[in-house]
Amino acid sequence: MKDFLDKSLRRISEASSRAASRAEKLREFSHITTRDSLLEMVGKKLKDRRLVLVSNREPYAHVFRGDKIAVIRNAGGLTIALDSIARALHSTWVCHGGANADFKVVDAEDMVAVPPHEPSFHLKRLKLTRREEQGYYEGFSNETLWPLCHLCYVRPKFLPSDWKAYDEVNFKFAQAVAETAEKGSVVFLQDYHLCRVAYHLKGMRTDLVTALFWHIPWPNPEIFRILPWKREVLEGLLANDILGFHLKYHADNFLETVGLGLECRIDWEKNRVERGDRVTQVGAYPISIDFDSIFRQSQSPSVLKASRDITAENRMGGLKLILGVDRLDYTKGIPERLEAFDRLLDTHPEFLGKVRLVQIGVPSRTGLEDYQQVVSNIEERCAALNSRYSTEDWEPVLFLKGHQDFDTLLPYYRMADVCVVSSLHDGMNLVAKEFVAASSNDRGVLVLSRFTGAARELEQALLVNPYDIAGFAEVLYQALTMSPEDQKNRLERMRVTVAENNIFAWAQAILGDVIRVADSQPLKKEQEA
Ligand code: UDP
Ligand code: G6P
Repeated sequence: MKDFLDKSLRRISEASSRAASRAEKLREFSHITTRDSLLEMVGKKLKDRRLVLVSNREPYAHVFRGDKIAVIRNAGGLTIALDSIARALHSTWVCHGGANADFKVVDAEDMVAVPPHEPSFHLKRLKLTRREEQGYYEGFSNETLWPLCHLCYVRPKFLPSDWKAYDEVNFKFAQAVAETAEKGSVVFLQDYHLCRVAYHLKGMRTDLVTALFWHIPWPNPEIFRILPWKREVLEGLLANDILGFHLKYHADNFLETVGLGLECRIDWEKNRVERGDRVTQVGAYPISIDFDSIFRQSQSPSVLKASRDITAENRMGGLKLILGVDRLDYTKGIPERLEAFDRLLDTHPEFLGKVRLVQIGVPSRTGLEDYQQVVSNIEERCAALNSRYSTEDWEPVLFLKGHQDFDTLLPYYRMADVCVVSSLHDGMNLVAKEFVAASSNDRGVLVLSRFTGAARELEQALLVNPYDIAGFAEVLYQALTMSPEDQKNRLERMRVTVAENNIFAWAQAILGDVIRVADSQPLKKEQEA
């Protein structure tokens, strides 16, 4: 890791004097947070407090494979990063047990030790009825809050029955935490599924410190004010001691929304909301990836071999590869990407037979109509592109629909000449950061939507507006024709950014603030549940 940074910093210094001064700054001030340094810091500062993690999605799922039970590690930067923290601190992780064999393996308290081969922490699984899942998860979480917070012209639904189920399920999560958490624990809630948990929990336990990290954008007050239950959602969030967003822009939007919607005092200097005797600290903590581990893994001989195998199997030798990796979600701008690719082939016929777009797409929230529609739209566009441009020995698009393990994704990142992230709106987007860490050492261009959180950090990516199809096609052209030297310089500079601002730095920043709050409230520790 140190070698990599030193090497990169040296090359950057050679590239330009501006970069050289930045490199000097990094050399002077950088402290790369590692898994070990994070755990040492958190372990030391937490002292005798325990960390309880809470999320809707579980990090490990038990599923039937015939009459046997298999364990699947759910993908995604967040669950993987929190997994390493949960392992080291022997935390409890409260989550929805949504897989078909989840309750075949739990004990009388619905707990199960994971990971299977080296159990080191416990999941406490919450069972939900189908009606609860529909109202809380599909309904209020994914048909109300998700489209409300992502600006992409999908109209949110406002059903009182969804709201009721959501609040009831949040109460259940709070009960599960209250039953499980040891005295004085720090409770770390994740995302928009759990807005009301702290509110209910504080009524059950006064000894707990709670933080919530909001993984999606927070819209401006004009957008948020149409939510009929805005007061309840805001009150629920303000029951937390700490609230984290990816960007300062989202944190400011939240503070403005609170200022317009509730009676309270906002301290803009300190980013705090004061309501009665309750104070909520609001901050920006851009989430990231385990750069070191992904970088190392992507250099392994098995990944290089897998890249060669994929190239041979798909007859991609000599073709430029444009890669997309996404959940099949209408926020990801996949139809726009396909349209821009179509325009590229139309306006730059020199690329016919020379380039292939490989789109990896994981089905997501498949019970919802908007999600079914976006999948059909993508399938139709892929078929149309292939039917319009294919020749006997070349097809422009390969759509790989289905979940790929991270190990399977790595060779694609490594092979790609261009990785395209074209979200219409995205809180962060970890795929962009994973590509930066895992791409080839001297080749690869990131085309990145301006409307992602990642675009604020990855300044050397080629930024696009995915709504402007002609402009998008030209950026694809620019990416495909970029000089090797420019590619290398941009990649290296983005790598330094992601290596420094890795997932452990994220966890250290937010958990450090949570622990500071906990330490400033010593009385809570004395109070009994
Ligand atoms: N991912 C995966 N398998 C797939 C597709 C995606 O493991 O087949 C992972 C990907 O590596 C990334 C995450 O899913 O870690 C997607 O995170 P991102 O922030 O890009 O978008 P989100 O899906 O959270 O909106
Ligand atoms: C986004 C959300 C996460 C969610 C993930 C996958 O990243 O911020 O909370 O877990 O999408 O969606 P799913 O509905 O499958 O959990």
